[in-house]
Amino acid sequence: MAMLSTSLSAAGSKSAATLYSPPNFSGLRRSSCPTLDNPSSNSLHLFDSQLRLPSLSARRPCRAVVAMAGTGKFFVGGNWKCNGTKESITKLVSDLNDAKLESDVDVVVAPPFVYIDQVKSSLTDKIEISAQNSWVSKGGAFTGEISVEQLKDIGAKWVILGHSERRHVIGEDDLFIGKKAAYALNEGLGVIACIGELLEDREAGKTFDVCFTQLKAYADAVPSWDNIVIAYEPVWAIGTGKVASPQQAQEVHAALRDWLKKNVSDEVASKTRIIYGGSVNGGNCAELAKQEDIDGFLVGGASLKGPEFATIVNSVTSKKVAA
Ligand code: PGA
Repeated sequence: MAMLSTSLSAAGSKSAATLYSPPNFSGLRRSSCPTLDNPSSNSLHLFDSQLRLPSLSARRPCRAVVAMAGTGKFFVGGNWKCNGTKESITKLVSDLNDAKLESDVDVVVAPPFVYIDQVKSSLTDKIEISAQNSWVSKGGAFTGEISVEQLKDIGAKWVILGHSERRHVIGEDDLFIGKKAAYALNEGLGVIACIGELLEDREAGKTFDVCFTQLKAYADAVPSWDNIVIAYEPVWAIGTGKVASPQQAQEVHAALRDWLKKNVSDEVASKTRIIYGGSVNGGNCAELAKQEDIDGFLVGGASLKGPEFATIVNSVTSKKVAA
């Protein structure tokens, strides 16, 4: 991790330095609260919550502040990937139905296509259904594909697009992913738009370049940002147990929000949820959730265990800072 952290700093030395200047978040909620621009407030993130609470309350007159730079509701998605059987999914759904979930969170699960119907008909309607992929245009003679229209027909509200496994295992590129996102949004599905750098990109100091390029491909294609959640998922952290540190994740999330501010609008930068994915679990979610630009999570492995997924959903509480 030390190596990764060093190489992210090194990202500032060349290409990222030209693309990325320190964030100026005027207009965002952060402006009335301690800021990353203020080194003393930034250092608050390094302390545990016991140290953090009195420091924050001493600095700000606000009460019951939620430490979020964005204005969107906390969002947690469970990406079940190509896992499960009718039996294991029955158990997972029952555990999710029994779990106590905080109400101020948008919760979504993405079962494999063949189980969506089963999940939709048995899962509490407090949790919405996402697909893990969708076809790039209207359905027809496209063997093996599933159309957006079919997903809507069985009650899906979201689709995950641009996931690293589809980029790097299946070979989907930015242009194709952007077209898929545009089609899904135009037809009324929400899009969980994934981006993220490979380990080699990070080590070469290209983290921001890669993430901004992938984000731009969505920006160039989509009709509006109303129904998009950005999932920043460093590929080296996916399924590896090697989670990004809260500071590493926050740094990229802040840069992505800043990119949206500069290239789309203040409003989109403020309202678009930027969620983190990559080895999130019940043990590390609270520290990550405290970061002000982390608006939730996309969870793989840990979403297959109902109680642990509930812990991750409920990590929203660690964003709330008592007066
Ligand atoms: P992981 O997967 O939580 O198992 O690392 C995350 C994802 O791929 O969305």
